[in-house]
Amino acid sequence: MKGKVVVYKDQEELAERFCEALMERITASRAARFDLAISGGSTPQVLFSALASKYPDSPLWQRVHFWWVDERMVPPDHPESNFGVANRLLFSKINIPGGNIHRIKGENDAYQEAKSYALQIKAAVPVYENPDRSPGIGRPIFDLVILGIGDDGHTASIFPNQMELIDSEDICSVAFHPVSRQARVTLTGKQINQATTVCFLVTGANKADRLAEIFADGEESRRLPASYICPVSGELIWYCDASAVKTL
Ligand code: 6PG
Repeated sequence: MKGKVVVYKDQEELAERFCEALMERITASRAARFDLAISGGSTPQVLFSALASKYPDSPLWQRVHFWWVDERMVPPDHPESNFGVANRLLFSKINIPGGNIHRIKGENDAYQEAKSYALQIKAAVPVYENPDRSPGIGRPIFDLVILGIGDDGHTASIFPNQMELIDSEDICSVAFHPVSRQARVTLTGKQINQATTVCFLVTGANKADRLAEIFADGEESRRLPASYICPVSGELIWYCDASAVKTL
């Protein structure tokens, strides 16, 4: 199993402690900007609410740039919009410059938006010296990427039936939910793995089997996209609650 595992008793404690760790990490970065890519789904909502209640007026928000790991291609006011949820729970409650929020425009054509978003990332997110010193990667490097895991082992919007999005050379790609066929724009696995730090937030007994398969690193894990998240030279931390690790 790759990375470090941190376990908390429940989702609320995990969110509280993760908030503190996040703000400490932003403080420690001391760089002019902190580029943070967030996922959708239900788990981050507890985090958004905790950040909004604990740090509404933190000066750190002036330096934090929010990006999305993935977005459902729906308008921003649609209940399934990842931006819409984050805006309702977090951005509408904290003092953050509007220019620091870089949403994927779900109302646009998915293929055009994937190209446009990749160009925005290239233009804004610093491309440091290749972290593993390999020639020619020169990819933008997010300071932190926050991921979840679906019951089927997907992460971002990289689903088990679209494993090619793990190693795609693109920064962003178009994906389709395997059941609803809903179009998504997602960061590719290769782009995620360039990050300085990747944190999974995994809570709930329904994730326990997938987590056990990933940590066992056996045959089953080969079909799970989340298994392929392994930062090239950054760190990987699994923030789990007790119910998600009960079978480990
Ligand atoms: C999305 C997410 C997705 C999510 C997992 C876990 O847009 O749905 O990016 O990858 O992280 O599905 O979702 P939960 O946190 O709701 O379990």
